[in-house]
Amino acid sequence: MATSRGQFGTRTGFILAAAGSAVGLGNIWGFPTQAASNGGAAFVLVYLILAFLLAYPVLMVELLLGRHAHGNSVRALTQISSRSSTKFVGATTGFFGIIIASLILSFYAIVAGWMLGFTASYPLASLGFDRTSQWLTDFTIPSNIALMTVFMTMTAGIVVGGVHKGIERWSTRLMPTLIVTLIGLALYVFTLDGAIEGLKVYLLPDFSKVLSADLILAALGSAFFSLSLGVGTMLIYGSYLSDEEHLPSIGAQVALIDVGLAVLAGFLILPAMYVAAARGVDIFDASGALLSEDTLIFTVLPELFTSLGSIGLFVATAFFGLMSVAALTSSISMLEVPVAFIVERFEWSRRRAGTTASAFIGLLSTMIILNFDWLFGAVVALSTRYGQPLLGVMLCVYAGWVWNRQALLAELKKNDANAKHSWFWRLWPWYVRLVCPAVILVIFARSVL
Ligand code: PHE
Repeated sequence: MATSRGQFGTRTGFILAAAGSAVGLGNIWGFPTQAASNGGAAFVLVYLILAFLLAYPVLMVELLLGRHAHGNSVRALTQISSRSSTKFVGATTGFFGIIIASLILSFYAIVAGWMLGFTASYPLASLGFDRTSQWLTDFTIPSNIALMTVFMTMTAGIVVGGVHKGIERWSTRLMPTLIVTLIGLALYVFTLDGAIEGLKVYLLPDFSKVLSADLILAALGSAFFSLSLGVGTMLIYGSYLSDEEHLPSIGAQVALIDVGLAVLAGFLILPAMYVAAARGVDIFDASGALLSEDTLIFTVLPELFTSLGSIGLFVATAFFGLMSVAALTSSISMLEVPVAFIVERFEWSRRRAGTTASAFIGLLSTMIILNFDWLFGAVVALSTRYGQPLLGVMLCVYAGWVWNRQALLAELKKNDANAKHSWFWRLWPWYVRLVCPAVILVIFARSVL
């Protein structure tokens, strides 16, 4: 292993960084309303099971491949290949992962910029800077570009700092802040009228709804996005782990935190929505479904915050700060994918690789902002609906078919002499060989056709 490579200093540092990558905007703006509209606690239960049946095995593919190579995805996939054809396809797969990770960051940074704008707008308004505050939240081209640039600069600043002094340090600061803020906000909202109603909608189980095939497939797809899979973010984080760590249990902890925080977000979002409803805010769309995603975050909740009076200032700032933090710990993992590749392949310094990659991706974001109406949705679909699942299949194929079984076992034995007799070794190899690719392809076909 190259000694000049960065490495996570502690296991907790790694778990917080990987969980930080997983816990992002998707957990807070998608999951809670999806659960509430689709069977409440029954959906939460099904989601938990699916996350472990499909997403966890793929997460393990990435962590094992990365730790084995102690290198980027292109290197990892070529290293386990013995033939020149599989080496070539592996390198191409790794390279596409780097492109898709960059594309995800290019749209994610725009949304994250809105979160920053809303975070700053409340305190600014209370200090009398009404016009600035207004400008930050009006979704115009100049404000979108400015906020995206600020967010991208923050992301690059952390990544340039390195694995230990940048990514790990900031993740261990930001993740506890995120969890404490989430719990604090949920506890506050519980005290308001209407909260219990929301809690009921969120949690009352309705098993008749979750048994639909479509819903299960949708849940599988979101679990995949939520765990940051396919594009090599978890692979590159895994490459910075020491050989002493027991990967199957570390991966399980990361998956549990991701699902746990999505569930916890529901304890804030649903009660908050019903509190808003009790104050006359519309929380349903024309078809009677709960409002979600951007309308929920930028219309419903701000109306609630305004109705809270002076305390609304603090609640709103904390909430949008929370969203910004969730986005930042995810975006650094996306940027690390191209940066690690450039550093290892071209031997550039981290600073040069980080500034170049982020400037390039920022340019892409600017193009999206200038052509928002058609380009934004297209980039989201290309990267998350097509890119992530197809790359996920390729990673499973490499771990399941290309990687030599004895070499794989040797990787697991590095920190577990009994790995051969573990449940993981009995189940996982054939599972990623057959079950994972098949299931992902079925989900993919249904979402595309
Ligand atoms: N998991 C992140 C979220 O839920 C998104 C993400 C996707 C991050 C792919 C990295 C790579 O918001």
